[in-house]
Amino acid sequence: MSTKALEGRIALVTGGSRGIGRAIAERLAGDGAVVALTYARNEEAAREVVRRIEKDGGRAFAVRAGLGRHGDAAALWAGFDAGIDAFAPERSVDIIVNNAGIGRSSDLAALTEDGFDEVFAVNVRAPFFIVQEGLKRLRDGGRIINISSGAARLAMPEAIAYGATKGALDTFTLNLAKELGARGITANSVAPGIVDTDVNAGWLRGNPEAEAHAASLAALGRIGRPDDVADIVAFLASPDARWVTGRTIDATGGAGL
Ligand SMILES: NC(=O)c1ccc[n+]([C@@H]2O[C@H](COP(=O)([O-])OP(=O)(O)OC[C@H]3O[C@@H](n4cnc5c(N)ncnc54)[C@H](OP(=O)(O)O)[C@@H]3O)[C@@H](O)[C@H]2O)c1
Repeated sequence: MSTKALEGRIALVTGGSRGIGRAIAERLAGDGAVVALTYARNEEAAREVVRRIEKDGGRAFAVRAGLGRHGDAAALWAGFDAGIDAFAPERSVDIIVNNAGIGRSSDLAALTEDGFDEVFAVNVRAPFFIVQEGLKRLRDGGRIINISSGAARLAMPEAIAYGATKGALDTFTLNLAKELGARGITANSVAPGIVDTDVNAGWLRGNPEAEAHAASLAALGRIGRPDDVADIVAFLASPDARWVTGRTIDATGGAGL
């Protein structure tokens, strides 16, 4: 009988109810991890992901965890502790995937202070304190994987603060790798380009012109799929990636080459 790459591991995936996070949760569970997947509002979607994972023989549970407020990380881990008891009473975690994020942003002229604070609170402050609080549970040899964006590397003035949040996340990743390396913990970012998820549905889906333009931005000539990103995360989470840390892995299909 073959052993799965993540058998015996426990993973936390924030924003696992939809889009890229859902694909990551399903992939890590398929690789044998027990997956705690968080959501903000969409309980039914989160339950559906858990059902699909269980149907395929995996193990998962959902945790409601709205991010972007003070105390959000502590509340998230309290939900994790409550749910993980059924699987692993020692309440440890091996893989933390900071995926939940919001793209709401605008250009320099239009961005309000509240809008700026909101996007930084969800995309930067929440991952920071999720890791700080999670370190009490993260086992040696663990993995931290932050979902960044090609927007940290390619100028996108129409979403200027969003790009800045992802740049901050990459710098956070770099420092985590240095600080935690002695424990065999790796920290990496994965930076997708345009991916077909709900966040892009409004302007992309059913609009052939927009789809063709988005596809043309990638050297590989198509729009990204959630599983394109999930497969990279699965590699970084696996024992095979033990010697990769402090990096941002491009997942744009070759945008801006
Ligand atoms: N899609 C892209 O083109 C693209 C490109 C580059 C980078 N990314 C990054 O990839 C990550 C996932 O994006 P996606 O496109 O998969 O997003 P999505 O389809 O909009 O899904 C977002 C997920 O995050 C959760 N979430 C949203 N706001 C939250 C909040 N305030 N607190 C807690 N959870 C929250 C949602 O929960 P509910 O279901 O409960 O709402 C959902 O599970 C983000 O960090 C994003 O910046 C996306």
